[in-house]
Amino acid sequence: MTFETIKTSSAKGVLTVTLNRPEAFNALNTLLLKELADLLEQVEQDHEIGAVVVTGGAKVFAAGADIKEMAALDAVGVMNDARPKHWRRIYQFSKPLIAAVNGYALGGGCELVMHCDIVIAGDNALFGQPEINLGIIPGAGGTQRLIRTVGKPLAMKMVLSGEMIDAKTALSAGLVAEVTIPEKTIERATELAQTIARKPPIAVRLAKEALLKAFETDLESGLNLERKSFTLLAATEDRQEGIAAFMEKRKPNFKGC
Ligand code: HXC
Repeated sequence: MTFETIKTSSAKGVLTVTLNRPEAFNALNTLLLKELADLLEQVEQDHEIGAVVVTGGAKVFAAGADIKEMAALDAVGVMNDARPKHWRRIYQFSKPLIAAVNGYALGGGCELVMHCDIVIAGDNALFGQPEINLGIIPGAGGTQRLIRTVGKPLAMKMVLSGEMIDAKTALSAGLVAEVTIPEKTIERATELAQTIARKPPIAVRLAKEALLKAFETDLESGLNLERKSFTLLAATEDRQEGIAAFMEKRKPNFKGC
């Protein structure tokens, strides 16, 4: 697959996707979202890849939806917009997605961060939902995911005022898992992704699914899903291998079955 708006590389079970529209601060236009969603669908079938890192590179993660593209859409255009479909495809990716964030993650950029499962931020990262300044509101889950992630007071402050938060605040609020120096953001995210890529893939997939379910369901339904997935894993060879390796005091060799 060849892409115009993203770059890819892979090593040790990890695919790294770099958003590549530097002239527009990696603004997320329709093509970029489509290319990212297409790529992730392809990776779904690639058993060599156990986790994906998404980054904007050293300076900017993404400054939001492409405002210039958005400006051309009237209400009917927004209603028929293909982007919500691509966002959904990204959210449905079953393998771990790890964001490595340096610089601005604004609007759709912050929403892309929240589509990821783990966020590693450089101490230069800035997160924000500035849509209010454009007379709109977040449109890719920002109101719903932000409040579930950082809680009501901070989510309200960010969405209603458009003010950004820094990496330290994002860490204490739970939006970010770790903060590092900007030079190490991608390296640390990749290292973590490689660690996850070595784990049993079916267990990783079911763990991600169960954790995400907690965002959208009541406790009893979530516990039921967890129990069913826990039971299902008892039928996998990787579970036998993991337990046997523990007993035999050796490293497990997981095969994804
Ligand atoms: C299109 C953008 C852009 C964006 C920056 N650029 N953000 N183009 N869409 N979201 C372009 C600028 O036009 C400019 O190109 C170049 O990137 C550099 O930007 P500058 O503004 O010159 O840089 P700087 O002064 O350093 O300010 C950086 C910034 C600012 C703080 C990130 O650009 C900014 O506020 N951008 C908009 C952020 C925003 O409002 N995001 C929310 C978008 S709405 P040119 O060619 O002009 O020099 C959204 C809704 C989500 O995300 C809905 C999901 C469906």
